[in-house]
Amino acid sequence: MDSLSKIQKDFIGLNTKYTLANGEKTRRIYLDSTASTLMMGAANDAIKSFYHHYANTHSLLHFSAKISTNEYRFAHERILSFVQADPNDYTCFFTGSGTTAGMNRLARVFRDYRPHHPIAVISLMEHHSNDLPHRKHAKKVVHVPLTNHGGEPGCINMDALEEILRKHSGQVNYVAMTGVSNVTGIINPIYDIAELAHTYGALMLVDGAQMVAHLPVKISGYENPLRNIDAFVFSGHKTYVPGSPGVVICRKDILSSIEPEEVGGGMVDRVFVEKYTITETFPDREEAGTPNIPGAIGLAAALEVMDRIGMETIFEEETELISDAMEKMKLIHDVHIYGETDCNICPRAASISFNIAGMDHGLVAAVLNDYYNIAVRNECFCAHPYVQEMILEDVMIEYPEINDNVYKPEYKIKAGMVRASFGLYNTTKDVDFLINALNDIIVKRELYKTKYSINEDGNYVHESFRPNMEREFTISGFVDDYFQSR
Ligand SMILES: Cc1ncc(COP(=O)(O)O)c(C=O)c1O
Repeated sequence: MDSLSKIQKDFIGLNTKYTLANGEKTRRIYLDSTASTLMMGAANDAIKSFYHHYANTHSLLHFSAKISTNEYRFAHERILSFVQADPNDYTCFFTGSGTTAGMNRLARVFRDYRPHHPIAVISLMEHHSNDLPHRKHAKKVVHVPLTNHGGEPGCINMDALEEILRKHSGQVNYVAMTGVSNVTGIINPIYDIAELAHTYGALMLVDGAQMVAHLPVKISGYENPLRNIDAFVFSGHKTYVPGSPGVVICRKDILSSIEPEEVGGGMVDRVFVEKYTITETFPDREEAGTPNIPGAIGLAAALEVMDRIGMETIFEEETELISDAMEKMKLIHDVHIYGETDCNICPRAASISFNIAGMDHGLVAAVLNDYYNIAVRNECFCAHPYVQEMILEDVMIEYPEINDNVYKPEYKIKAGMVRASFGLYNTTKDVDFLINALNDIIVKRELYKTKYSINEDGNYVHESFRPNMEREFTISGFVDDYFQSR
């Protein structure tokens, strides 16, 4: 067995079973990796093994502290080499809650770094985590519109981006764009965008939340240095290590020129009553307080595994799977996939968002779960402007008064999509399972409609099926079992 096939079978939760509405107990098909990936077995084992040596990285001299400190340092080096960021020029540091924490931090850093450049340019495609931090911390945000590919909107309009950069030349602090959409999976030409941004004097930030697990990343080292990325953020929980922190990779010279955003233990050389001196050492300077050491170590182990397999290989394998899924979905007449579906014209990674004609997204997601044990996400995926842009015309048929800036709770039922998303562990069997389920749902569409009603929160609820999730796992149940077994 090659190393890819070996690790594909070694994720925690691939054999999780639940009882369905028809009383059968079946294996869950996990198609929600864009929200959070399952845990890689090797990373879990690395963390468990490390726990025997666990100690604070701020302690220095005892054996365990040496192991903790060394491996925590290695985790930073591993990440920099994984994303091909030159360690002479870049540092990497961990932040609290995923990409969101990192992007908020960067928005403040860049605001303070270039206070006379008031504008942040982002796209209409962004997750709220790469939109709202800039709205809050930059003086002004300009959104780049989308363009069509073969009649399907979904891609960044590069001409419009250039026009915005030209119009606001000298005013734009940075362009912040996602590497891969968490809705359509469309891959953005971030290195071309970086070149454009730099040409007009702007810096380039990348939201890499959906990139790192799925395709090779190269932050620096281009023959044309305009293509380098200035700062990059991603989430460990989307990279096969739930519980690991968010990661920021940033040019050191930017961080050195302003006081770190967060202060406390571990980032100072000396503290006196009257003053304190901040260390010049990276990443310590950016990591006040005791970090999430096991999370960082698990993440480094996962990246090491993926690097040994090769990100090109992983990308090719996943592209084949997602193309297969889209080709099969396209054959189902009543399924509409959002965004260009030909990966040769518009490359994609991980996510496919769709709707079934005549069924609300919430109903489809509920039926996929309750009758087929397929876990998907629905609604707007924290990317309201992007989803709205793509479905507005459909929703207007139901609610003609809807427009870009008005939202009423009842729109939620219609304004959304279903997202199937894939990770390293998904196989063509999972794809076929989804396709069969979609075909079956379409045949039984009217029957399923009679089985559900919409509750006051706007969610679909089955007429009689009330899954007992507490039977599956509760913390206190786990502790009861623990005491009984000792
Ligand atoms: C493209 C993108 N950016 C940012 C985020 C936010 O990530 P986190 O929840 O880890 O902060 C997500 C999460 O889905 C995402 O898909």
